[in-house]
Amino acid sequence: MSEFRVKSISRLHAEFSVPGDKSMSHRAAILGGLSNGACTIRNFLPSEDCVNTLRAMHALGATHEVITELPGFGPVDLCIHGQSMRLSAPEAPIDCGNSGTGMRLLAGLLAGQNFSSELFGDASLSSRPMGRITNPLAEMGARIETRGEKPGCAPLFIHPAELRAITYDMPVASAQVKSAVLLAGMFADGKTTVIQPAETRDHTERMLASFQVHTRRDGNTISLYGRQMPESCDFTVPGDISSAAFWLVAAAALDGSYLLMKNVGLNPTRTAILKVLSRMGARMSEIVHTSSGEPSGNIEIHGAKLTGTTILIDEVPNLIDEIPVIAVAAALAEGRTIIRNAGELRVKETDRITTVVEGLRAMGVDVEEFDDGMEITGGNTLRGATIDSMGDHRIAMAFAIAGLFAKGETVILNAECVNTSYPGFSHHLDAIRREKAAPEDFAQPLRSLR
Ligand code: S3P
Repeated sequence: MSEFRVKSISRLHAEFSVPGDKSMSHRAAILGGLSNGACTIRNFLPSEDCVNTLRAMHALGATHEVITELPGFGPVDLCIHGQSMRLSAPEAPIDCGNSGTGMRLLAGLLAGQNFSSELFGDASLSSRPMGRITNPLAEMGARIETRGEKPGCAPLFIHPAELRAITYDMPVASAQVKSAVLLAGMFADGKTTVIQPAETRDHTERMLASFQVHTRRDGNTISLYGRQMPESCDFTVPGDISSAAFWLVAAAALDGSYLLMKNVGLNPTRTAILKVLSRMGARMSEIVHTSSGEPSGNIEIHGAKLTGTTILIDEVPNLIDEIPVIAVAAALAEGRTIIRNAGELRVKETDRITTVVEGLRAMGVDVEEFDDGMEITGGNTLRGATIDSMGDHRIAMAFAIAGLFAKGETVILNAECVNTSYPGFSHHLDAIRREKAAPEDFAQPLRSLR
């Protein structure tokens, strides 16, 4: 088991980029595998989550060749051989590891096939709710059994089925649910429509467009006609703003710091973190350019004294993965920060409301816990503590950032889980801790944490 040992820093002056976007990498593996030819995917995220999805597509007949590999992790550049919407039966159960996105999107993909399949995951994934996708998929005619110890949980046994198009009014604002229904809809005759209660990340719709699959959007209603053939294409994945968020918070909260985060995804359904940090007083600017249908660019940030804020209800789906590190920013900011309407955090890799509240309290922060969020009163010096990530990558990374501001040493236990989304996080953490790191220090060969 790995751990991080972190002490406070007094200087942060850095420019680098983070690995590819996790959401886009899952989708590139899936849509590339469904397409009608060879697709070159560049800057794929070779994290455990995305490599599992790539392996799953391989097991379904969509093989790939590696162009460039990140040793110890997996492919960064690869060529996927699309199967023209005709997948083959996997020989063994498919391991989705820790990834809710992988399991839910693959369930949508597999629901309408003429073969059986089984999806399973680790202990955390096996306790996360799958009814949110099996219910709409069942309405479409899918036959999926949840055989987990907890009702409605993985493993999923998916039997052959013919799907019909439906209109689905989603009870939760979830891009995973929307994407599972749209992927299933690709294998159904007629028009599948998903109505979301609030805007969620739109990578599936954008990537479908890159593959010439037409979707129609009217406000929060998204439709597609089934049986469209995805045209093979090449796709370059920008850096993951959810990974960049850790360093953005570190730079924003450290007076006098400077960070240039290069080539990061700036899709407007993902950038609420930037709005929140600006509201808290961070000084930043973005330069946006668009490639492969996804905006990306550089973010420049100068540290300042932060003040607390209230996270707006509509912002929550847009920054759901960043809330653990926003809570750290709140602990470092003067005054109160209120995070409500974020009950979804309780069904992530861990119950992220409880893990964040307990971690912050261990570091001496005044936090009140609510069913759907927390209120943090920040501004006092953090106290170094031992924090167990409980196997949750974003908890491990958020508290490593907190450790950069704490008096005394902070130890993060079970830190190897960062490999699920951010290969090389520990390397970037080391470079930041050296305080005088040059750009090349961030680009040294990355190593896997075990
Ligand atoms: C994701 C959607 C979000 C997010 C997850 C990735 C995606 O989950 O938390 O890390 O790629 O679609 P929900 O859609 O369930 O909110």
